[in-house]
Amino acid sequence: ADVGNGESVFSANCAACHAGGQNVIMPEKTLQKDALTQYLAGGMKEQSVVMQVTNGKNAMPAFGGRLSEDEINDVASYVIDTASNDKW
Ligand code: HEM
Repeated sequence: ADVGNGESVFSANCAACHAGGQNVIMPEKTLQKDALTQYLAGGMKEQSVVMQVTNGKNAMPAFGGRLSEDEINDVASYVIDTASNDKW
């Protein structure tokens, strides 16, 4: 997956709610390592992010019909790469 393209996808589609890896709707559910480990269904894995982005969860919209599979894979890579390396 293309992490650089994932950053662009993130800016355009995710940053409204998740700027800087935060969460403006549910503040404890950030995109940081500890929160992903604790809350993300399936654990802190690229595939878990792909699932949540494709299908949505509660107040987070589903992107399955709006982003391509490649775009979703890229943004998931970007989220996991950024969280794993504490880059938020
Ligand atoms: C949760 C990614 C767009 C609202 C999450 C989580 C991830 C994620 C990985 C799990 C965080 C955790 O459990 O600690 C993304 C990506 C997006 C995106 C990659 C863009 C493709 C959005 C947008 C909104 C939003 C636009 C607001 C309209 C939320 C909410 C949660 C959440 C409310 C918590 C869901 C719950 O567990 O109830 N997001 N998100 N997300 N996101 Fe997003």
